[in-house]
Amino acid sequence: MSQPVLFAANWKMHVAPGEARSYLDRFLALDAPRVGRSVAFFPPAVSLETVASRLHDHDHLSAGAQDVHWEAKGAFTGALSVPLVRESGAAAALIGHSERRHVFGETDAETALKVAAVLAGGLQAILCVGETLTQREGGETDAVVARQLRAALAGVAPDADLVIAYEPVWAIGTGKNATPEDAAAAHAGIRVVLGEFGLPTSTRVLYGGSVNQGNVAALLAQPGIDGVLVGGASLDPDGWAAICATIRP
Ligand code: PGA
Repeated sequence: MSQPVLFAANWKMHVAPGEARSYLDRFLALDAPRVGRSVAFFPPAVSLETVASRLHDHDHLSAGAQDVHWEAKGAFTGALSVPLVRESGAAAALIGHSERRHVFGETDAETALKVAAVLAGGLQAILCVGETLTQREGGETDAVVARQLRAALAGVAPDADLVIAYEPVWAIGTGKNATPEDAAAAHAGIRVVLGEFGLPTSTRVLYGGSVNQGNVAALLAQPGIDGVLVGGASLDPDGWAAICATIRP
């Protein structure tokens, strides 16, 4: 059976615990569970336990961390480890989001350590990759994405709980999104690299970058787009419930 389509909400540095409670009251009132679809929320760490506990009784809904450190514990002020977020209810972690890479200077090597730590800790790893506008205009999209993937995937077992999110940096938070065809082409390149590492063709590859109610259906209609990772348009429960109601043709 194919894997469920995944709708992932990346709240970034928004939605404190109190707001998360009222958000989920509204979202749960609107959302109708559906076979073949799951929804994951990535709240800021201070809201993780609130969100995870509220979703606990809903099999198709889960919560995860936006980032983790690769060490399990230690003197890393401000950082969160896999055991810490797991105990707060995380089932997954985003790794290598473009804001981590480009705002906080995270390297491919650090991303690799984080993916390994997440998988070893029994969580799902959602590895984010994507090119900048200069790289796209220079025709380097496939090469950049392949480099990011190869750095992080060495040593990942074929049965690892791994999801890839293709998020072109120029499309994140900008209102510009890749055309469904461009996204599908990048996804096809990603699948070639997954194959190099013996990872199964059933591995889900999400698209992210200015996904909204108006473009989500066309994106999900493309072969090889198995879900979406959504920032801005996931912050409103009504809009997010509408996005999550999209049926993949
Ligand atoms: P956006 O963010 O939907 O606001 O473009 C997506 C992301 O950063 O994951």
